Amino acid sequence: MKTILVLNGPNLNLLGTREPQVYGSQNLADVQALCDGACDANGFDLDFRQSNHEGELVDWIHEAGRLHADGTLAGVILNAGAYTHTSVALHDAIKGTGVTLIELHISNVFAREAFRHHSYISPVAKAVMCGFGVNGYALAIAALAAMQTKGA
Ligand code: DQA
Repeated sequence: MKTILVLNGPNLNLLGTREPQVYGSQNLADVQALCDGACDANGFDLDFRQSNHEGELVDWIHEAGRLHADGTLAGVILNAGAYTHTSVALHDAIKGTGVTLIELHISNVFAREAFRHHSYISPVAKAVMCGFGVNGYALAIAALAAMQTKGA
């Protein structure tokens, strides 16, 4: 059984209390449980992590690249939070490893401030999802499953 790595960046540990009108009322443990259910339904193991530190996220993408090359990882779902809009290092890590990665945002970043409209992740992501609320995580897991069977 292949693994899906779900990586959450800065401030996502505050889900549930952080701007609930934007991000909803579910906390990160709820999102992990949602991902667990979606992975079970689609025949994946789940590895779910959060960090407020850019370098730690870079290290985890490198790890994912090695597992992807070994054939044990189906892909990464990355909500890089604010690093989406600032991090050349994350861009380079994704590009350098060639790992299959879905960029995910809970909110519709294009309906928000202009500084959220640019992403350093999008050009190196396989796909981009935003605005589905936390349910987007489950949709992204189903999308990775479909990519496996269709070989996309
Ligand atoms: C976010 C959107 C980002 O602009 C923001 O900095 C976040 C969360 C989202 O999930 O909607 O921290 O990635």
